[in-house]
Amino acid sequence: MNILQINSSARSQGSLSSRLADRLVASLRAAHPQARLTLRDLAARPHPALDEMALQALFTPAEQRNAEQSARVAQDDAAIDEIKAADVVVIGAPMYNFGVSTQLKNWIDAISRARATFEYTADGPRGLLTGKKVYVVLTRGGRYRDTGNDSQVSYLRTVLGFLGMTDIEWVYAEGLALGPDAEREGLADAERQIEAALA
Ligand SMILES: Cc1cc2nc3c(=O)[nH]c(=O)nc-3n(C[C@H](O)[C@H](O)[C@H](O)COP(=O)(O)O)c2cc1C
Repeated sequence: MNILQINSSARSQGSLSSRLADRLVASLRAAHPQARLTLRDLAARPHPALDEMALQALFTPAEQRNAEQSARVAQDDAAIDEIKAADVVVIGAPMYNFGVSTQLKNWIDAISRARATFEYTADGPRGLLTGKKVYVVLTRGGRYRDTGNDSQVSYLRTVLGFLGMTDIEWVYAEGLALGPDAEREGLADAERQIEAALA
């Protein structure tokens, strides 16, 4: 079993989403001692943005790319290879301004590639990253679970589902900025959700 852990906080130290993702992965590994873990810490090693240079590189045939373009596409290729190889994906996802972090968005942009991770067919789009179990650990300063303002879950469910990842467990750590008691309770509640998700 291959586990891919994506830490997407902008913080490589002190991140609560990374801490909870670590906790979930530790439980997974305790249950599956043979599992191999790949950890992608997007704070320590951010994936570059999908900017003009990247788009030009991606739309240039491989044999015509210059060295800089080849290197840029190779970074996306590596992220795609990692997600393809994963049986289980664990994503630590802080809410920033009602959405995902730039770090996570850049990674999602990297792994979303036609004919590699999704394809268009006569019946519509088809995700190619199928058969994976996904856990998303969400951290929020406020509380948005099951409200119309939870655009983060709505976006992640859509894009991960588009790529074929439909078996998703959501873990919510909420109220983390609402004072020490709320933070403690939000984290404890998330730990209970992790236990339930892995039971
Ligand atoms: C730049 C920034 C934007 C944030 N935006 C939101 C937000 O829109 N809603 C919310 O509930 N919390 C928001 N927060 C609080 C974070 O979601 C919370 O601190 C979370 O624990 C961050 O994850 P981390 O500990 O893994 O870094 C924001 C925090 C930062 C630093």
